[in-house]
Amino acid sequence: MEGKDFLKKVPLFSGLSEEDLDRLITISREKFYPKDSVIFHREEAGNFFFLICSGRVKVIIETEDGKEAILSILYPTEFFGEMSLLDGEPRSASIVALEDTRVLIIQRDEFLNLLSKHPEMSLKILKTLSLRLRKANKQIETLMFFDAPGRIARILLDIVLDKGVKTEKGIAVDLDFTRQELGSLIGVSRETATRVLKNFEEEGIITVEKNHIIVHNLEKLKKRIY
Ligand code: CMP
Repeated sequence: MEGKDFLKKVPLFSGLSEEDLDRLITISREKFYPKDSVIFHREEAGNFFFLICSGRVKVIIETEDGKEAILSILYPTEFFGEMSLLDGEPRSASIVALEDTRVLIIQRDEFLNLLSKHPEMSLKILKTLSLRLRKANKQIETLMFFDAPGRIARILLDIVLDKGVKTEKGIAVDLDFTRQELGSLIGVSRETATRVLKNFEEEGIITVEKNHIIVHNLEKLKKRIY
C-alpha cells in the first residue's frame, strides 16, 4: 500500500492534514495493472477515481477498425476518471497501461465526499481540467491547421519545453513512447512520423538516439510549425 510519504508528494492532496491523509489511506485501495492492460473502456459506467502511483497510462479513443488517437499520456501523481464521477456520464475515453502501473482507487461516493469537505481539492481539479482543455484546444489547432512536419515539430517543442534537459550537444528529451504512439498523439502514421524525424535529422535540426532525441536547432524546429 502506498504510504503517506507518497500521498504528501501528490499536488492534489497537498492541502490535506496528517489526519486527512490517514483517512484517505483507509478509503482508497491499490491496484496493479500490467503493461498493455486496459484499465477501463470508453463508454463504460464510471464509479472510481484513479491516482497513478507508478507507471504510465495513455488516454485513448479507438475506432472500430483498430485505429487509436492518444489524447494524453499521464504520469505518477496525476489522476484520471474524475469526469464520469463529476457529470455522471459514461467514461469519455479508454485508459491503457503503457508500462506496469500501480494506481490508488477511490470509490465515487468517498471521492465526492472528499471534495465537499475539501473545497481546495475541487479547485485543483478545476485547474487540471482547465489545463487539459487548453492542451486539447491546442491539439485541435495542430490537427486542423498543420501538416505532418508541423505537427511533429510542435509536439517535439512541447516536450522540450516540458522536460528538455540542456546538454553539450543540444537539448535532450526522453522519448518514452514509440513512433506509433508519437503518431497517434498527432494523427499521423508510424511511417510518416519516422520519415519526418529522419528528414529533421538530415536537416541537422535533431539527432534521434535510442530512447531520446537531441534538439540542436530550436529556432529551425519552430520555423517548421505551419
Ligand atoms: P472519465 O471520462 O471518467 O474517463 C476517461 C478519463 O480520461 C477522463 O475521465 C479523464 O480523467 C481522462 N481524460 C479524458 N480526456 C482527456 C484529455 N483530453 N486529456 C487528459 N485526460 C483526459
